[in-house]
Amino acid sequence: SMGNKKRDINGPLIVVSNRLPFVLSKNSDGELVRKQSAGGLVTAVAPVVVECKGTWIGWSGSFDLKPGDPIPESDPEDKAPTAGLKSNQIIPVHIDKSEFEEFYNGCCNGTFWPLFHSMPDRANFVSKDWKTYCRVNDKFADCTLDALRNVIKTLDEAGNHDTVPLVWIHDYQLLTTATKIRQVCEEENLRCKLGFFLHIPFPSWDIMRLLPWDDQVLQGMLAYDFAAFHIEDYCLNFIDCCCRRLGCRVDRTNMLVELAGRTIQVKALPIGIPFERFVQLSEKAPTFLNMPDDVKVILGVDRLDYTKGLVHRILAFEKFLEKYPDFHEKVVLLQISVPSRTDVKEYKQLKDETELLIGRINGRFSKPNWSPIRYIYGCLSQEQLAALYRDCAVALVTPLRDGMNLVAKEFVACQIRTPGVLILSPFAGAGGTMHEALLVNPYELDEMANVLNRALKMPLDERELRMTQLRHREQLLDVNYWMTSFFSSMGALKDEDEGPPKT
Ligand code: F6P
Repeated sequence: SMGNKKRDINGPLIVVSNRLPFVLSKNSDGELVRKQSAGGLVTAVAPVVVECKGTWIGWSGSFDLKPGDPIPESDPEDKAPTAGLKSNQIIPVHIDKSEFEEFYNGCCNGTFWPLFHSMPDRANFVSKDWKTYCRVNDKFADCTLDALRNVIKTLDEAGNHDTVPLVWIHDYQLLTTATKIRQVCEEENLRCKLGFFLHIPFPSWDIMRLLPWDDQVLQGMLAYDFAAFHIEDYCLNFIDCCCRRLGCRVDRTNMLVELAGRTIQVKALPIGIPFERFVQLSEKAPTFLNMPDDVKVILGVDRLDYTKGLVHRILAFEKFLEKYPDFHEKVVLLQISVPSRTDVKEYKQLKDETELLIGRINGRFSKPNWSPIRYIYGCLSQEQLAALYRDCAVALVTPLRDGMNLVAKEFVACQIRTPGVLILSPFAGAGGTMHEALLVNPYELDEMANVLNRALKMPLDERELRMTQLRHREQLLDVNYWMTSFFSSMGALKDEDEGPPKT
């Protein structure tokens, strides 16, 4: 695949994300140790940061790490992609408990998350939270600037005056970080290229304008040189907001936005997964599902989040059980819900609602030796997940709204044996490219029940054809391809023409 071709970047790299690529937690001896986070982003980006001796800036995940405390080195046994990151490559951003409450629970996940997923009724607008958000973003900026000064000093001492450091900032927790970085860079004449990737949707103007601080957010995002989103719709929404709120001159065809004499390049770069890693996991993962041969498993895997459409999915499954009684005792819906943002009220309520609903439906349809829904609230290992993805008959990926959705992609990567069927919402970014899935509107419960019936009855040759094409695309457009495209688009690859298109 193109993603496997190695390309070097042309400057020192600084990656900035809300969370570091590992979390710190206390072991039984009370020492802080690294614990891996398993995301695809970390799997892809960490080896690049290791190889180019770059820097990663982020929150450690622990309130026990105080300013000045050393970052622990990785365990010598550690085989994770982050194991090669030396502690001097890590810059922790210190966030205290009250800041965390207002920044992360309040503004990130109480305001931006629901708003950017076009669910404004769930969004809170609290000016204290917003102020803390800006203050915490400035902390991230200060850490980035420190790293940048060091990197430039080293380059200058070596006579590399033309080499430009690359700063890559991630996601909705850091929308205003670039404002301060750009301002200080101009004051101190520091050179750098600033790139941004948004991992969630970007909403349309009629949603964005509900945000009391929309102008400051848009200006923050225009402080980058390059801003990328998963799909073209999000890019066009962003460009439209810049035009209507800030009066920017824009070029929708070439995706350019102009502000105060500077031109920002916008681009759609759909993220992929570490495809080969999931194939390998599914090749070696022992059986995790033990069902009778005549029982098919319908699998759902999500962070427990209201954007994932879990309530709609379960109600549609109830409709399916009503409408297609032949499937009683022949199918099981296995839902894995991964705990997430458990301090936020909306998430607590969703947990209760889901558990009540599943209890009611199981009470209604269960037999002594069969229950229609099995429910796990917890975290499975990557290997266990790979086994489930491999052995289930249907994956139900039905978010109401989702930036991309990697579960859909992980599922097809792991389908190395008898092919199953992917049922996918068109309102996930993945719905725009994974055409061979069965696409269904998650709000249309009857239709979801019908599609489930169709998936369970689909002949083997049709399943094979669809799955082969789905897998081929994800293998080609994997996470390495995405990352290389990002660097290439910001003109950050060696042996390549400079930069994004000039105006
Ligand atoms: O994709 C959106 C995102 O918020 C990522 O930034 C994050 O890694 C993931 O979802 C999990 O969320 P959190 O960091 O809030 O646990």
